[in-house]
Amino acid sequence: MNTLLTIESKIHDEARQGEAYAPITTSQNEFKKLFFIESYGCAMNFADSEVVASILQSNGYGATKNCEAADLILVNTCSIREKAEATVRKRLTEFKKLKKLNPGILVGVLGCMAERLKEKFLQEEKLVDLVVGPDAYRTLPGLIEEAETGQKAVNVLLSRDETYADISPIRLNSNGVNAFVSIMRGCNNMCSFCVVPFTRGRERSRDVNSIIEECQNLFAEGYKEVTLLGQNVDSYHWTAADNSKQEVAVTFAALLEKVALISPLLRVRFSTSHPKDITDEVLYTIARHENICNYIHLPVQSGSSRVLQLMNRTYTREWYIAKVNRIREIIPGCGLSTDMITGFCTETDEDHDQSMSLMEYCKYDLAYMYFYSERPGTLAARRFEDDIPEIIKKKRLQEMVDLHRIHSLQSMQRDIGKTCKVLVEGFSKKTQNELQGRSDHNKVVVFPKANFKKGDYVMVKIDSCTAGTLIGTAIVE
Ligand code: SAM
Ligand code: SF4
Ligand code: F3S
Repeated sequence: MNTLLTIESKIHDEARQGEAYAPITTSQNEFKKLFFIESYGCAMNFADSEVVASILQSNGYGATKNCEAADLILVNTCSIREKAEATVRKRLTEFKKLKKLNPGILVGVLGCMAERLKEKFLQEEKLVDLVVGPDAYRTLPGLIEEAETGQKAVNVLLSRDETYADISPIRLNSNGVNAFVSIMRGCNNMCSFCVVPFTRGRERSRDVNSIIEECQNLFAEGYKEVTLLGQNVDSYHWTAADNSKQEVAVTFAALLEKVALISPLLRVRFSTSHPKDITDEVLYTIARHENICNYIHLPVQSGSSRVLQLMNRTYTREWYIAKVNRIREIIPGCGLSTDMITGFCTETDEDHDQSMSLMEYCKYDLAYMYFYSERPGTLAARRFEDDIPEIIKKKRLQEMVDLHRIHSLQSMQRDIGKTCKVLVEGFSKKTQNELQGRSDHNKVVVFPKANFKKGDYVMVKIDSCTAGTLIGTAIVE
């Protein structure tokens, strides 16, 4: 089994699709059956697949990377845009063909698309045997048994308190250096374009002690970087008893600090921050701890206050700019990335110009840009007409991508001559004579291997760059 596939750790990237998973070491003889899991969507979905793997492994299922060898095929799906769902449907059709050749195989759909389409999936699509929503993974073993008897098995109940806090995820496709740690689930924000509150349910935070324990265990196993995950990490909130049994509230800033204090050798990242909720306390915590990366993903979605109001983002352009200024004041040189949507309902050329000028102001290091895709059941779908022709949405998107390309190249070029601390993640894609890792600012850095290895922190002087990679040489003291 090829076990050293490096997980692409660009977080938030819903474009990352269809990674097949297998854990680092599995003696397949230990298991009565094999499962194959493929994940689509955001980092939270990928983290969920690791929870699913743990539940299945405790019930006698081992992971395989070969779908043809599997008794159970699971697709962990995303509904964020129409295209994401179309990709999954195509993949399920391929699995249906496999099932025709081997009728004993069970095919299950998990995640956000399962939640959105529910039983309709079984009736309309006839592609799957199991439909399991994001809060129902504990019931998978029972559902599999039901499906094995020929019944269609569905559980899409959303929960107000499920966080899978007690389940130790099985790290799949791990490079042994970076790991995702889920700190909360769901979302209460109701941005009008977004399907997530409907597919993931109400926001709830995970027990702080279980988060710290998971991070400590990861560090003890040799991991050097954790990324704390939630749709809106700044609203993390847990009430815990302190030593004198007093109830104390743990905010996101306090959680970040607790994780950072596990070891100075454990890097901490987090995603996603909401501009309305990120506090000065969080910014000062980042500034105080060298091992909390100076990098914030702060999705803006639009540069027009009018459109932001229709999107129900609850901040204005001016508020957002003030936040960015505050970040740069408290954490000088902080890396900044964003998400942007073009062609939202009623967006005019002037609104689009406002988005472009905001991008010009912020000069993001990284941006994920999408054209608006109406999602059934969302506030926008119910209230507004999806009135911008696709050709205009795409033209505006292209203009934005072109502008961002200039900013991201400038951001890379600014690092030439600087020295940055790189956490090595493995060999470079091109050759085993070079190593690849990430800087504090989340940029990919490549340098000659010498005697360094995966998991080392190396000071690298940057000599040149491409659009996506910094190229340098290690400084040996
Ligand atoms: N919770 C994060 C936030 O508040 O920004 C991320 C949510 S979502 C998983 C990731 C990104 O997908 C969003 O930031 C948004 O830019 C994009 N997105 C969400 N719904 C969309 C839609 N209907 N059409 C196009 N892009 C969408
Ligand atoms: Fe969707 Fe908004 Fe929640 Fe992000 S904050 S998941 S965009 S509703
Ligand atoms: Fe994530 Fe897609 Fe669901 S972005 S929360 S997997 S809709």
